[in-house]
Amino acid sequence: MTGNNKQPGEVKMSGEIATTIQTIATTPFNDQKPGTSGLRKRVPAFQQAHYLENFVQAIFDSISPPPGATLVVGGDGRYYNREAIQIILKMAAANGFGRVLVGQGGILSTPAASCVIRKYATYGGIILSASHNPGGPDGDFGIKYNTANGGPAPEKITEAIFELSKTISQYRLIDAPDVALDATGDYLIGNMIVSVIDPVADYAELMESLFDFGAIRALLAGGFRIKFDAMHAVNGPYARDIFINRLGAPEDSIMNCVPLPDFGNGHPDPNLTYAHELVEILYGENAPDFGAASDGDGDRNMILGKGFFVTPSDSLAILTANAKLTPGYSAGLAGVARSMPTSAAADRVAKELGIPCYETPTGWKFFGNLMDAGKVTLCGEESFGTGSSHIREKDGLWAVLFWLNIVAVRKQSVETITREHWAHYGRNVYSRHDFEAIPTEAANGVMKHLKDSFATLPGQKLGSYTVDVCDDFSYTDPVDGSISTGQGIRIIFTDGSRIVFRLSGTGTEGATLRIYLEAYDPVIANHHLDAQVALAELIGIAGQLSELVARTGREQPTVIT
Ligand code: G1P
Ligand code: ZN
Repeated sequence: MTGNNKQPGEVKMSGEIATTIQTIATTPFNDQKPGTSGLRKRVPAFQQAHYLENFVQAIFDSISPPPGATLVVGGDGRYYNREAIQIILKMAAANGFGRVLVGQGGILSTPAASCVIRKYATYGGIILSASHNPGGPDGDFGIKYNTANGGPAPEKITEAIFELSKTISQYRLIDAPDVALDATGDYLIGNMIVSVIDPVADYAELMESLFDFGAIRALLAGGFRIKFDAMHAVNGPYARDIFINRLGAPEDSIMNCVPLPDFGNGHPDPNLTYAHELVEILYGENAPDFGAASDGDGDRNMILGKGFFVTPSDSLAILTANAKLTPGYSAGLAGVARSMPTSAAADRVAKELGIPCYETPTGWKFFGNLMDAGKVTLCGEESFGTGSSHIREKDGLWAVLFWLNIVAVRKQSVETITREHWAHYGRNVYSRHDFEAIPTEAANGVMKHLKDSFATLPGQKLGSYTVDVCDDFSYTDPVDGSISTGQGIRIIFTDGSRIVFRLSGTGTEGATLRIYLEAYDPVIANHHLDAQVALAELIGIAGQLSELVARTGREQPTVIT
């Protein structure tokens, strides 16, 4: 053994210790541009020789960690998670890291990874996940880098990674045996310590510090029935520890809680389409009082009441309005932020509370600067993401616990809390229509056609709506001044209703066109309407303005949320 690291007593040898750093010659791939949330590709793409290694080396080269730095590594347990972790560990050792904290079994939910990066003040972390995309040998895999604040790397880092990936000629690794990931403890690779940690404990403790677990325990003991669906994904062990062990919920309160590499052949996206097993339970006979689900990597959430769905945009607004009822937010909120396509429901609450509300481009990375600067406490996206400055990722179980804390204090159902909210603030009726796997050219054609109509649209009367303004959203970060352009086409009507068109940055097949529809309705008598019914006219206008059917051949969305 060479090197002068002081080895802790409990360090176990992972077989023979290799210290020779190998330099492997490689050639660039031209498709390693990180999207909305890291690099996502089909598993076979990542399995190509040198593919993962090139990207990891590009990360390390762009962040140039100081010698001995600590890194966090973990993933959502999807197919190729374990193999990827072994490669990353050997590369981290060859790139001068002193320690890597890795979740037992290679598991760390995205919010737990963010929590661990922050709690142990590490240099950063690598998260292996393709979020809500299906897994398995032909499914998706993904990798992203998070910085020391626990949040996704900002664009200047992801761009630097991409640039380096285009010219890479070699990467470094240590040819050591695999680390046994299934038992906690410390292991050695070269001079680097690999600490295999309990993936749940730090996160669960953070949740206990934010919410009134006593009140929630009492609510559950009093007969309030919940059902949490982990969708065979990473949040299973977290849900078991928090709901069953810490909050005393009965065993049948959780379902699909063993993480599987292919998510049981499902699509681990918590929405009305893909979480239908849970939806059927909440809309069925003898339904529980509360239902929730989270996605592949545990950062998204869906909230249901008995026979009732809360849109993520409304959820953000309701959490903002009720934050003071929870111990973690009893002092009030600095501000709130939402992504541009998210409904303006939170804006109305912020206005009443007298706190700022920021509108950012899609993607969690834009919230990080606002939170680091202390400008916002809560933030959210229409895509089933809500979170706060307790970490720098959105957080599925956090949102569920936040809701349970509110229910425990207000002693009202999810539906009553939501309806009272609408009665007070008015309802921002909202829906998103996704058209997946459209040929890229057709999708680009729709966007170009819309942009070409900008000059003539303002002032046009379309049914009962009149176009006020339209633009391609761009954002100037109020903290660092960086500018992000081309973030989605907005058509805003004179009454504040909106249609937004955007191409997904996370899809892996063709293009995904998202159409976001929002209409504001202050009239309580209309609040019972189904969103698709209430938005029917806007849906028609969106089809007409985009020439959707003619350009894409698509009559119906693939997914409606
Ligand atoms: C989607 C969501 C976006 C979210 C991202 C990562 O990105 O729309 O809100 O931040 O996944 O979970 P998109 O595919 O639209 O680029
Ligand atoms: Zn996710």
